[in-house]
Amino acid sequence: MTNTAHDRLLIIDFGSQVTQLIARRLRELNVYCEIHPFQAVTDAFLQDFRPRAVILSGGPASVLDDGSPRPPQAVFDLGVPVLGICYGQQVMMQMLGGRVERGDGTAEFGRAYIRPTGEALELLDGWFTADDDREQVWMSHGDHVAALAPGFAAYATSPGAPFAVAADPSRRFYAVQFHPEVHHTPAGSKLYANFVRIAGFKGDWTMAAYRDEAIAKIRAQIGDGRVICGLSGGVDSSVAAVLIHEAIGDQLTCVFVDHGLLRQGEADEVVSMFRDHYNIPLIHADESELFLGELEGVSDPETKRKIIGRLFIDVFQKHADATEGAQFLAQGTLYPDVIESVSFSGGPSVTIKSHHNVGGLPEKMGLKLVEPLRELFKDEVRALGRELGLPDSFIGRHPFPGPGLAIRCPGEITREKLEILRRADAVFIDQIRKHGLYDEIWQAFVAILPVRTVGVMGDGRTYDHACALRAVTSVDGMTADYYPFTHEFLGETATRIINEVKGINRVTYDITSKPPGTIEWE
Ligand code: XMP
Repeated sequence: MTNTAHDRLLIIDFGSQVTQLIARRLRELNVYCEIHPFQAVTDAFLQDFRPRAVILSGGPASVLDDGSPRPPQAVFDLGVPVLGICYGQQVMMQMLGGRVERGDGTAEFGRAYIRPTGEALELLDGWFTADDDREQVWMSHGDHVAALAPGFAAYATSPGAPFAVAADPSRRFYAVQFHPEVHHTPAGSKLYANFVRIAGFKGDWTMAAYRDEAIAKIRAQIGDGRVICGLSGGVDSSVAAVLIHEAIGDQLTCVFVDHGLLRQGEADEVVSMFRDHYNIPLIHADESELFLGELEGVSDPETKRKIIGRLFIDVFQKHADATEGAQFLAQGTLYPDVIESVSFSGGPSVTIKSHHNVGGLPEKMGLKLVEPLRELFKDEVRALGRELGLPDSFIGRHPFPGPGLAIRCPGEITREKLEILRRADAVFIDQIRKHGLYDEIWQAFVAILPVRTVGVMGDGRTYDHACALRAVTSVDGMTADYYPFTHEFLGETATRIINEVKGINRVTYDITSKPPGTIEWE
């Protein structure tokens, strides 16, 4: 738990797929909130956390099942506003003396319309107008509330949820059957704005405030100790490094592990920006020989990732050891990485890909962690980066995975393929920038395919590599859709790549969404 001076809102997670979106909506309102799984929220936790308001999330369980998740009763004795959403509504009604029934033909999934039942409710300020007394919401429930708890009244209704909005305004308890956090509830943000106003939040969670607080916290944590930071050239580790440097100056040393799997010109860019522009002490560990050597002949994606992860740790450790007296390791961990969500199956979720990070490193090296971004979402990190004066061109960069080009080169990695890939990738990105599309796209890159195909150039036959262009839109990398380039754009790009990049004679465009695909090829 953080020790922020701001008023806090507590989101108790019951395992909904969209709990994180509740936090997003609240952060947009400049309200500080944290998500905690229901098992972790004990009476002692509540006393310590002192929330100004509580939200009970949705979840896949049924309150009618034995042992289904509950918040502690104390949540309702804190004297603070409570908002229950979907499962949160049902559990609230059940615990406060109402009744929930199994859905027998009343289940609602997807778009629904609610209408007010008469009396106005502050939570719904701005929802219904004289011309349009219905509002679209997103429902996803099987069970429904059949009898309200004492003190509650219904304020809006839908065909499948007679108590779509129920409330006891005197206690500031609100319970809604739909999901106001999702995009398909268009007035959802207004509901959250009303809720936090009712709770008395000041809306003072801004990036400028965050920056000053974070700097003070880093100084207090580090004292006159030394910090090392693994720099990948990505936005997160860069923002973390600049923030820490602002707090403690040259007590910070950055280690940039160059695994030889970077894009064209990338290593030089990172080194010149940090060393020359920011004057941050930087070790440029050029270890491409080591990485490429160990990857020789390896084609299994997981094996590649494991090798890179292991070497990364070894190399980092070797160079970090050279930084005398380092007691702290800085990481650009973000909030989505630390939310201990309740998984849908009740167990750990399946590993699709083992993501590359420096896990295990701190214990092995006896280092304490500094994670100044662990309360932030990705777009908040970007806002903080701007606040710290990092150039927009840098902050807006597409994400780049830790294992680098290795996972864009399916099958065996060779230096020759990497070089071809770098050149093709540079042309693709150049095309995207020239057409003004870079900022509309979440991530774009080229993958070089492990097949050669026959072509004809001039009067001669070619037998060269095929490549795939990948460009996706996404908000968080969890789901993604392919970017709808025009045919002209695709044609022009293919022509340029084939003309400018020796070694490629065929260009394809990957139009798989995620799921079922993933963004990277491996
Ligand atoms: P996938 O391929 O899983 O990628 O759909 C989702 C997002 O994560 C990035 N990615 C990684 N980032 N280490 C990282 O730091 C990794 O091992 C890794 N694998 C994938 C990917 O680029 C995309 O933005």
